[in-house]
Amino acid sequence: MGLSSCFFSFIRLLLWLSLFHLTLLAHFTSSVKPLCHDDERSSLLQFKESLIINKFASIEPSAYPKVVSWKADKDCCSWDGVTCSEITGHLIELDLTSSYLYGSINSSSSLFHLVHLEWLSLSDNDFNGSKIPSAIKNLSRLSYLSLYNSSFSGQIPWEVLELSNLETLDLTFNFNLKLQKPGLRSLVEKLTYLKVLALGHVNISSPIPDILANLSSLTTLSLKGCQLQGKFPTKIFQLPNLRVLSMRFNAGLNGSLPEFENNTPLEELRLGSTGFSGEIPYSIGNLNSLQILDLSNCSFFGSIPPSLGNLTKIRLLYLNQNGFSGELPTAIGNLSSLEELELSALRHDDERSSVFAVQPKPSYR
Ligand SMILES: *[C@@H]1O[C@H](CO)[C@@H](O)[C@H](O)[C@H]1NC(C)=O
Ligand SMILES: *[C@@H]1O[C@H](CO)[C@@H](O)[C@H](O)[C@H]1NC(C)=O
Ligand SMILES: *[C@@H]1O[C@H](CO)[C@@H](O)[C@H](O)[C@H]1NC(C)=O
Ligand SMILES: *[C@@H]1O[C@H](CO)[C@@H](O)[C@H](O)[C@H]1NC(C)=O
Repeated sequence: MGLSSCFFSFIRLLLWLSLFHLTLLAHFTSSVKPLCHDDERSSLLQFKESLIINKFASIEPSAYPKVVSWKADKDCCSWDGVTCSEITGHLIELDLTSSYLYGSINSSSSLFHLVHLEWLSLSDNDFNGSKIPSAIKNLSRLSYLSLYNSSFSGQIPWEVLELSNLETLDLTFNFNLKLQKPGLRSLVEKLTYLKVLALGHVNISSPIPDILANLSSLTTLSLKGCQLQGKFPTKIFQLPNLRVLSMRFNAGLNGSLPEFENNTPLEELRLGSTGFSGEIPYSIGNLNSLQILDLSNCSFFGSIPPSLGNLTKIRLLYLNQNGFSGELPTAIGNLSSLEELELSALRHDDERSSVFAVQPKPSYR
């Protein structure tokens, strides 16, 4: 072997080694995430210490006390329910859904030091009738906030309306919460990026403002049991991305169904136990994504349109307790996805009418 060929082998080896080294380095840097920040770890531990673990605080069968496994010596980014940014190491998500947390909370809580949070769920815990603390405004990066079924009470503070990045706000099932001063109009004016607005059983006691129909990103609007009054703004039915609309249990809310366009994305339309009235338009057959239609216990009248038979995805159909007349369209028999059909007392005046003596069928399949 000549000297030159030996030299070139040596260069090749060097090149190969440096390439190997580079790949190794790249691999190393991409897999090392920054560790949890000390201040955020201590805020989490203080928050844990401020509450009691109580089995009666959560009702979901999947509940368990997530914070019990939080230990001071570990990287808090790996704790149950905690997610950190892979770039900055800051805590960006906190999911303490159904965690048996019980106790009061106020603006001094260390929870509100976690200012990098973008996603927060405290759903299905028991905050013992606390007000939603005004320090919530510190969490100004939140795009997701769920306090579903967590025993908060009192007026929802202005500071919630200042979380201007919110895309999801779920305050459902906090039976003593109020949205009155500020009210629904202020909320809708401030939180213009909302995709999901769920305020079921929050006491609103006002009409629905027309500008709610300006929230063009809305996919879910649930205002069941909110003591709403006045006329439902028809334009809300035309929101281009709306898939779920629930206005059930608002006896003081009036309205009527619009003409529905083809390819409306609605999947759930729940208007049961409201003051909605008028006829069901033939164009309801255009709602080809509809899976749930609840018009029960309202004041609808006229004939039931055969176009209902075009709703091939429908699973739950509740038309009971209205003032309909005429024959039940046979097309309803074509609905192959149907699981529940409620037709009892279709007419207010004669619950035992021979035409409509159809008993509710809990399972239609
Ligand atoms: C729950 O609230 C009541 C009334 O405000 C208070 O007396 C009690 O100490 C609170 N319990 C806890 C665990 O915070
Ligand atoms: C907030 O709650 C803590 C206990 O969790 C209590 O020591 C403090 O006094 C409360 N602050 C206010 C302003 O109520
Ligand atoms: C709501 O939308 C309507 C028409 O799209 C517009 O004229 C009005 O200014 C909007 N209102 C607000 C408060 O953005
Ligand atoms: C329903 O389907 C029938 C054909 O099965 C069609 O003639 C009719 O136009 C459809 N109506 C609606 C409202 O979709």
